[in-house]
Amino acid sequence: MIAGDGIGPEVVESALEVLRAAGASLDLVHFEIGLGRWKRTGEAMDEDDLEEISGCDCILLGAITTPPDPNYRSVLLRLRRALDLYANIRPFQSHDLDFIIVRENTEGLYSGVEEVGVEESRTLRVITRRGSERIAEAACDLAARRRRLTIIHKSNVLRSDRLFLQTCREVAERRGILYEDMLVDAAAYNLVTNPQRFDVLVTTNLFGDILSDEAAGVIGSLGLCASANLGKSRALFEPIHGSAPDIAGKGIANPVGAIRSAAMMMRWLGELEAAGRMEEAVKKALSAGVRTPDLGGRCSTSEVTGAVTGYLMAE
Ligand code: NAI
Ligand code: MG
Repeated sequence: MIAGDGIGPEVVESALEVLRAAGASLDLVHFEIGLGRWKRTGEAMDEDDLEEISGCDCILLGAITTPPDPNYRSVLLRLRRALDLYANIRPFQSHDLDFIIVRENTEGLYSGVEEVGVEESRTLRVITRRGSERIAEAACDLAARRRRLTIIHKSNVLRSDRLFLQTCREVAERRGILYEDMLVDAAAYNLVTNPQRFDVLVTTNLFGDILSDEAAGVIGSLGLCASANLGKSRALFEPIHGSAPDIAGKGIANPVGAIRSAAMMMRWLGELEAAGRMEEAVKKALSAGVRTPDLGGRCSTSEVTGAVTGYLMAE
């Protein structure tokens, strides 16, 4: 458990309450990682943490504020790298929408290969066949149980994306998945004008990052959306929002993204029944109008949490 900063601890606390109400028995290890730790020690996370975290099955994370330090290395990027969490799965659901963005999590423009200068700076965009293949496989695993796959790219301009597109096409062909491809700018437009047309979307790192915040807006709020960062044997679950310093400490953060992340974690742990019940309880609370201000409601974090746990206990 990495509660993190800002609203991180608030929403993670809600997720824990809901997990308890769903009857989860977890052996929890808490890590102090993030801005608080950085202020105290000058380091947001160290190698010992990384090693101890590697010994855990999975991680539930709230959010981490990026410290104001030019030399700061993102904790999330380090965790994704160290645990090789290559598949970022982001489901988006509302009463009339249901699609999943599958974002490549380890390469692309987040390669970390950068030259920083005063007059000129460069970031290397790395696309590999292996990286594209394994993210395409992850997307096809999902699409196989759904309708179809949309491969999102910018291969008309970025030659590195031709490898991504070609590899995704090959994997989809081999797996017998119905697929199409779409330029990322058109995808950004279609997400707003016609989101129903999407089912499973697969894309590179930065495009996936941006499109998923857009998708969250289409769904209604960043606070609703969950994600799983999956590797071969490890996983990290986190709401897609950040630490939201503008509302931290006010008790009004939407806990649904964190609760849904915890449900994804339970599903990954094989606790399908508990995961399903947690997701249903969230739906019931939202349909009953129990909503935080980001959704136009007047409820507090703890009122939403209470409603969700209430539905779970009432079963
Ligand atoms: P943010 O996601 O924290 O906030 C964006 C807007 O959405 C704010 O107006 C915020 O109040 C609202 N919002 C976000 N989550 C909400 C929730 N659960 N309920 C209600 N409203 C919510 O993004 P921002 O402001 O760009 O970043 C703040 C800090 O978080 C930065 O230091 C950033 O680096 C960090 N961050 C961390 C992430 C992580 O740990 N995975 C992801 C994104 C940002
Ligand atoms: Mg993001």
